Amino acid sequence: MSAEATSHTDQVLVASNRGPVSYGIAEDGSLTAKRGGGGLVSGLSALGTAAGTWVCAALGDGDREAARRAGPRLDPADTGGQAVRMLDIPAGTFDAAYNGVANSVLWFVHHLLYQTPLEPVFDTGFEEQWAAYETYNRAFADALADEAAPGAAVLVQDYHLSLVPGLLRERRPDLRIGHFSHTPWAPPELYAVLPDAIARQVLLGILGADRAAFLTHRWARAFADCCAAVLGAEVDGLSVTYEGRTTRLGVHGLGADADFLRERAFRPDVDERLAALREEVGDRRTIVRVDRTELSKNIVRGLYAYRRLLTDRPQWRGRVTHVAFAYPSRQDLAVYREYTAEVSRVADEINAAFGADGWTPVVLHVKDDFARSLAAYRMADVAFVNPIRDGMNLVAKEIPVVSERGCALVLSREAGAAAELGEDALLVNPYDIAATAEALHLALSMPPDERAQRSKRLAATATALPPQAWFLDQLTALREI
Ligand code: F6P
Repeated sequence: MSAEATSHTDQVLVASNRGPVSYGIAEDGSLTAKRGGGGLVSGLSALGTAAGTWVCAALGDGDREAARRAGPRLDPADTGGQAVRMLDIPAGTFDAAYNGVANSVLWFVHHLLYQTPLEPVFDTGFEEQWAAYETYNRAFADALADEAAPGAAVLVQDYHLSLVPGLLRERRPDLRIGHFSHTPWAPPELYAVLPDAIARQVLLGILGADRAAFLTHRWARAFADCCAAVLGAEVDGLSVTYEGRTTRLGVHGLGADADFLRERAFRPDVDERLAALREEVGDRRTIVRVDRTELSKNIVRGLYAYRRLLTDRPQWRGRVTHVAFAYPSRQDLAVYREYTAEVSRVADEINAAFGADGWTPVVLHVKDDFARSLAAYRMADVAFVNPIRDGMNLVAKEIPVVSERGCALVLSREAGAAAELGEDALLVNPYDIAATAEALHLALSMPPDERAQRSKRLAATATALPPQAWFLDQLTALREI
């Protein structure tokens, strides 16, 4: 695969807000690099380090310092040889673009997170943040225009960079430009929350790409519907034409990386954590969830549903443990901090109300530990994934791959993963506590044979498009246009 991809002479550039490495500053002023994982890192590795350059933003002080010290490219020793250009965007501009616009507006619109009686409010504060978002997007477009060889392919990621395809096309019409949305896309009536000029600007930004891709058909169709409703663009299947230019839409359902997971999940550090968790849980059944503490993940309603299960189905008291890992995310935003506190509060409440005789009904961990997450995957009887809305949700795909005895999957019908896994999962309405509690009961009661069969099929579907193939498919489709 790798050889085939690199046999194209074209260079490949990837642009995303968060890059493959982040830096901390030690007390003596030295920098420590920490490499991240995820689908993009793994996908880009399909090309080999020579063919690709990754453009990303400096996210914090350590990153900014590294970007300043390094010059245009980071030290390859920090990046596993990957060419990475980290943009030293001023902290205030970055904060307004990332926290103010990307995470508090675009993320909220696509995940339906607003409590509309009081929010959003698009006034002068927002106008300033929007200007910063434009500056931040221009910084990416300038860097990409500077880095790209003639005819290079550029794969721009996500809602942070929605203006980049259009800005880059103005600068470099010779490039092949793709955009990928890792989020859901809002339907037109909800997208209409955005100020009209901004709703247009975001769509036109993405339509600057030759190809705009999504995780499911549902999100691709919603994007096309917004283009028709807001711009009056012509939509023909998976093509959107506006003012004489056509952008193709694509769907690539990122899957779990089976080879990586099956190897990583059985290393000694995971074994150790599994033993510790077993100690805590005993031989009880487990309902496992692992999330970033993200508003869209619906962790609080998940806890309500578990409480309802213990209330309505007392036979499970003392016989099941909810292993819930909720790792901090976007803690610069007050609403995320409050949500994180609420998760702990509700978990404590359930433990106080039901806990007894050495039984802790909810085992909640909030400190990020990948090895412990894999240990929980291995012991899962039920995987519980109930987001309000989610682009895909890889946890729903990963747990069936790793669970040792096979697991039942309780899955929100609003997760992108439901389109692929729906037949073998127990689908739920994420707002309906009684129905979710009932699904948990059915999942816990599923006969072992049926559970094993379903889990096997879930794992096969979940791994159909691993990150490297997902990445190469996008690249091939972009080059074929
Ligand atoms: O899960 C969707 C997603 O857009 C990912 O593509 C991206 O990595 C993440 O959300 C952004 O999260 P963060 O704000 O932590 O970088």
